[in-house]
Amino acid sequence: MKNYSTKKIILGIESSCDDTSVAVVREDTEILSHETFSSSTIHENYGGIVPEIAAREHLGAISPLIKRSLANAQISLSNIDGVAATGGPGLIGGLIVGTMIAKAISSAGKIPFFAINHLEAHALTARLTDKIKFPYLLLLVSGGHTKLIAVLGVGKYLEYGTTLDDAAGEVLDKCSILMKLGFPGGPMIEKHAKNGLSEKISLPRPRINSNDCDFSFSGLKTAFSQLFSKTPNNYKLENINNFSAALQNAITECLISRTRNAIIKYSDEFNSKQLVLSGGVGANLFIRNSIENLADSLNFKFIVPPAKLCTDNGAMIAWAGLEYMKLNKNSSLDFSPLPKWSINNKNFSPLGKSNVL
Ligand code: KG4
Ligand code: ZN
Repeated sequence: MKNYSTKKIILGIESSCDDTSVAVVREDTEILSHETFSSSTIHENYGGIVPEIAAREHLGAISPLIKRSLANAQISLSNIDGVAATGGPGLIGGLIVGTMIAKAISSAGKIPFFAINHLEAHALTARLTDKIKFPYLLLLVSGGHTKLIAVLGVGKYLEYGTTLDDAAGEVLDKCSILMKLGFPGGPMIEKHAKNGLSEKISLPRPRINSNDCDFSFSGLKTAFSQLFSKTPNNYKLENINNFSAALQNAITECLISRTRNAIIKYSDEFNSKQLVLSGGVGANLFIRNSIENLADSLNFKFIVPPAKLCTDNGAMIAWAGLEYMKLNKNSSLDFSPLPKWSINNKNFSPLGKSNVL
């Protein structure tokens, strides 16, 4: 067994959607191990995530992943100082699997348990990867959320904008299934877009000229679906490439316009010039480069975690746990997972009032 001296070590568990991910992270930001299992290929046959199947897959994957993570970090359960699991938002079955096993580890080892808000974990990842200081503006783009948030501190969030309907990742996933590219759609659309000509397909950019920071993507999804369905030879590779490029472009332009508005609002309120991109869609190189160009043009420093830490992962949950551990704020073992859990509140409580110890 390795001796990691006095630096605190946390085990983090993510199980809110289709990925079961476990990581061991040390307080000096060292990721000692990181293991992920994805059930996405199983869901592919159903055209989207089936919650019941996802829950069963989490149940089968979680114990072996924890064992492997500890082995790879060359530690045992007795070496960890705390355990964190996603407490919400997400699919209830997976949340129950992750939080129950975390509570059992906490109870048996008499170490603190941290129920982590998934969005907060995405929001804090840049502090794990780049050690950045508060405050910063966050563009969070995932399969379930598209948000612009001023991140003021641990548990202190101000939402500037959100999607009024679908999330950007959801649109990529649905359009990918329509084009028979599989699930999750983002990586496949990114790959096909590289060989496509976006100008060949005309798609709308909903809300692009509105003055606020809110997004809307459902009209884009409908327009894509209608246009694709009535295009002759629509499954030809050239056409798939063009539609992929056009969709990626339209989503990116919407993200840019809303983020520009948010940067202006944020600059009025805070004396800091940092923009963070996070969430699964932030793994997309075209989107990363486009948002970086926007940040450069407005003299903002741009920070984006590596792609592996943008998509759902256990390391971000472990890190959020460490942030709360430093504040001595752990969760009650009575915590019940929260399928819906907003962070839009300057005094956001990590656990909901009744759940805080
Ligand atoms: O953050 P995440 O892993 O899970 C949620 O919290 O939702 O995000 C998943 C989303 C999916 O919609 C997936 O298609 C998208 O992130 N995604 C990407 C890429 N990799 C994952 N979108 C665009 N380009 C990618 N390379
Ligand atoms: Zn996520």
